[in-house]
Amino acid sequence: MPASLPIDPRIRLERGDITHLAVDAIVNAANSSLIGGGGVDGAIHRAAGPALLAECRTLGGCQPGEARLTAGYRLPARHVIHTVGPIWRGGGHGERDILARCYAACLAIALDRGFRDIAFPAIATGVYGFPHDAAAAIAVAAVRSHLAAHDAPQRVVFVCFDDVAVAAYRRVLGTAAR
Ligand code: APR
Repeated sequence: MPASLPIDPRIRLERGDITHLAVDAIVNAANSSLIGGGGVDGAIHRAAGPALLAECRTLGGCQPGEARLTAGYRLPARHVIHTVGPIWRGGGHGERDILARCYAACLAIALDRGFRDIAFPAIATGVYGFPHDAAAAIAVAAVRSHLAAHDAPQRVVFVCFDDVAVAAYRRVLGTAAR
């Protein structure tokens, strides 16, 4: 078992509802239409209010692995970064690469805009069926790679909505993860 990698102080793990976080940006696990849905997408649109959907309608959709920025409206978060994860179809259709690109694209927006902190849900692990452990490993690797090369954002929060997701991130981050 390789020694666990040092815990990056800029990475945090939390259990809760991402719509409650007062950060520069929360990430939405959207679909390519960007006009809302269930899961975290539905929660974010409900909390942000109808103005979020109105702005999303001006964006022309989003391809899997890409990301789009909007305001946060009634959310405590100042912005929402919408990304579209891969639908899990067994792993032989580039799903891992698409998921990694989701995290990289969101972090690139945060860097470009000088955001201090960004919160991610466990993208693609709900309706899209991506296995939790594989998704957490991809998420943590993508964030660690970005943070090794850039000073911003200063804080990345993985927000897990249930204990299954928390356990997956704990296994990847090491049990010292908060
Ligand atoms: N806060 C944080 N995480 C949440 C919340 C919330 N309020 N609600 C759900 N989650 C978690 C789920 O438990 C899951 O771990 O977000 C993760 C992603 O699950 P989904 O929201 O189902 O997103 P995804 O698997 O990427 O599927 C996207 O579902 O909701 C539709 O419009 C969306 O079509 C798109 C698809």
